[in-house]
Amino acid sequence: MPVQALLRRSVASVRGPSSFELLTKLHRIKEAPLEFLAEYTRDYGDLWGFTVGGQEVVFVNHPDVVRRVLLDNARSYSKDTFQYRQLARITGDGLLTSDGEVWFSHRRLLQNAFHPKHYAELVSIASEEAHALSLHLHSADPRKSGVIVDIHSRMLRLAMRILERMFFSEDSSGEVSQLVEDTEAALDYIVQSALQIPPLSLWTQLRGSRGFKHRLRRIDCFVHCLMRQHQKGNARGATKLLDLLMAALEGRAEPAMSEHQVRDEIVTLIIAGHETVATALSWTLYLVAQHSDIQEAMRAELSQVLGAAPSLTLEELPRLKLTRSVVEEALRLFPPAWLITRRAIREDVLGGHIIPAGTLVVISPYILHRHAAFWREPERFDPMRFDPLHAKTPPRFAYLPFGAGPRLCIGHQFAMLESVAVLATLVRHLRFSLVPGYPRPRMQARVTLQPHGGLWLQVQPAQ
Ligand code: HEM
Repeated sequence: MPVQALLRRSVASVRGPSSFELLTKLHRIKEAPLEFLAEYTRDYGDLWGFTVGGQEVVFVNHPDVVRRVLLDNARSYSKDTFQYRQLARITGDGLLTSDGEVWFSHRRLLQNAFHPKHYAELVSIASEEAHALSLHLHSADPRKSGVIVDIHSRMLRLAMRILERMFFSEDSSGEVSQLVEDTEAALDYIVQSALQIPPLSLWTQLRGSRGFKHRLRRIDCFVHCLMRQHQKGNARGATKLLDLLMAALEGRAEPAMSEHQVRDEIVTLIIAGHETVATALSWTLYLVAQHSDIQEAMRAELSQVLGAAPSLTLEELPRLKLTRSVVEEALRLFPPAWLITRRAIREDVLGGHIIPAGTLVVISPYILHRHAAFWREPERFDPMRFDPLHAKTPPRFAYLPFGAGPRLCIGHQFAMLESVAVLATLVRHLRFSLVPGYPRPRMQARVTLQPHGGLWLQVQPAQ
């Protein structure tokens, strides 16, 4: 055995549950990971850990320590973790999962597609799509008495449609519902097969894996079709992003990319950019439905800022302060990306403990966003805490819906603009309320923080 291995230190100084205890609770942990994280954080504090199957794991829940992992010493951590390896089964080596030089050069190239000069177009597409949805829901309710709708499935399609128009092709005749279905099924499969709940028979595994490959083939087909159309010069309405990637493929831009790399970046943006936004919007609408006073205040703000203007533009967005605060607060309570993981590639010291190379470091925005030392009444929905005139801002690293540091979400500004534009347009035209007699939606911590079984709300015209 090499001397380094003998000398390798362990995270033994970190308190936490024993492997045996974890084994006895395995089923519950898989079923309700957020409860497990909250419970052990209550028991052991802001830094605790355990060892499973020889893998050392440390959970960190203090803004200063989170800052060290994601920003100050980010070079000592990689994305080579179980979470990202599972995602890479769909996305390949795209921005979300790659590291090092490849990640750096691709990020620099793709950053151009997220430039502020595209904000106005994004707001216009997002408002247009949200308006089309509100018209559709109006027509489904001629008596204005309210219809019961699974908002989450609507938001998934809406977010995919916006993504498609913004990033791939205005003209795309791609079947958005099919793409949503395929990506959702593929994401479900990787979660199921990672958790193996309930223990799957060989037959179920085989069938699942065949279904997964089939979904992947269809996603690839969508991507290759976009690329072929672009190459044939049929890409009327092709977007900046597709242009950038195709230029890299054809050697007209730096870095040059292979067809496989272009495919991986496109699939990464589809995966990273649609379910996250849809989930954020679904939970936001749920909170808005629950708090009719805030919904009314939003409508008052909208009518003051927009007057009789037919639609929303980028210019008005900064004045929709309450609408933005509602989105920020919803992202605090229900952060779609509830888990961020890193692997230490060299030894580090976190919170006074030695963290050996190879340790898995886990951060949960969901748990951090409810940390009582940094958030007053953390369980309460209070958009005012994001109003700079009324509230004391919490430390930057206590609020991480989009991560932080060099791996900060590339789409964070887009996601905020898109969410505010969609929410403003929907609330302007529709009234959302809880469905009497329906149970509260349950959170399901999958790849993102999903509402289990959809999110059903009563929707009627606003006036
Ligand atoms: C509310 C919506 C969104 C949320 C909550 C969200 C959240 C996040 C988080 C937490 C990360 C960092 C993960 C880590 O550090 O391990 C991330 C990364 C990323 N996100 Fe988002 N995201 C959202 C929307 C979007 C959109 C709209 C796009 C693109 C269209 C996008 C593309 C990406 C990409 C490519 C990365 C990897 C960036 C890198 O490592 O360079 N996201 N996102």
